[in-house]
Amino acid sequence: MTKIAVAGAGYVGLSMATLLARQNEVTIVDVVPEKIELLNKKQSPIKDEYIQAFLSGNDNAGNKINLNLKATLDGASAYKDAEFVIIAAPTNYDPQKNFFDTSKVEQVIDLVLEINPAATIVIKSTIPVGYTKSLYARYTAAGHNLKLLFSPEFLREGMALYDNLYPSRIIVGSPKDGRLAKEAEAFAGLLAAAAYKKDVSVLLVGIEEAEAVKLFANTYLALRISYFNELDTYAEVKGLDTKSIIEGIGLDPRIGMYYTNPSFG
Ligand SMILES: NC(=O)c1ccc[n+]([C@@H]2O[C@H](COP(=O)([O-])OP(=O)(O)OC[C@H]3O[C@@H](n4cnc5c(N)ncnc54)[C@H](O)[C@@H]3O)[C@@H](O)[C@H]2O)c1
Repeated sequence: MTKIAVAGAGYVGLSMATLLARQNEVTIVDVVPEKIELLNKKQSPIKDEYIQAFLSGNDNAGNKINLNLKATLDGASAYKDAEFVIIAAPTNYDPQKNFFDTSKVEQVIDLVLEINPAATIVIKSTIPVGYTKSLYARYTAAGHNLKLLFSPEFLREGMALYDNLYPSRIIVGSPKDGRLAKEAEAFAGLLAAAAYKKDVSVLLVGIEEAEAVKLFANTYLALRISYFNELDTYAEVKGLDTKSIIEGIGLDPRIGMYYTNPSFG
């Protein structure tokens, strides 16, 4: 049983925590007292059918679920003896300054390095490409032996735990020199073992490649939404039926019928 701490009880953190707490000892940390109170009453602070079912002691197929999960506001106590600290804090995009606000991620890293420098830190938050390289440079220059991985998250809100029980793939990025290869493999193994889906594709890649996967996956999906929204606008202007056009296009296997929903209406 591995000791794991998760920073952030939102979609990403709570799905990670409930996924991993069936087989591991997990403590989830947040800065919002109401979220921690709800979790300690086994109530989900976010809307997610699977997370609520797991917290209540059953999965959606009626199997009994026994979670080894604690929730706390006290980050220091949670990180103290964790083997892995998963960071799922917000990294909101600031349109004024034109950058991702990564300060919450760094707050967690600073505390972990102070309390438990031997822990392996896994960033699950969305970060800009090149961010982990800059962290390694900064923390190494300050004399720390940072053990940092990046594992991109692909879940959908409302389906957060489901998407981790049945993941499309598990990707864990670690430094190219191989010094954290074992830790990356171990973390990917924890996610794979906790998934209901069998034979999930596991990709162990360089940490910057993992960052690039998240960037290019997000931009492709955004491009696809924009494309189908443009198609919808065209159809509306011309008085055409959008659904018929999408079906005609999507039945081409190179395009596919998935993720073709513009904002109808
Ligand atoms: N929601 C998604 O669909 C999704 C998918 C993939 C990646 N992500 C990324 O994952 C990250 C988290 O997203 P989310 O949707 O779970 O966000 P969220 O806002 O739902 O949850 C983040 C939580 O972190 C808490 N928090 C803030 N500072 C903290 C700190 N110092 N220590 C502990 N907890 C702290 C907040 O109170 C909040 O409860 C973001 O970077 C996001 O871009 C989100």
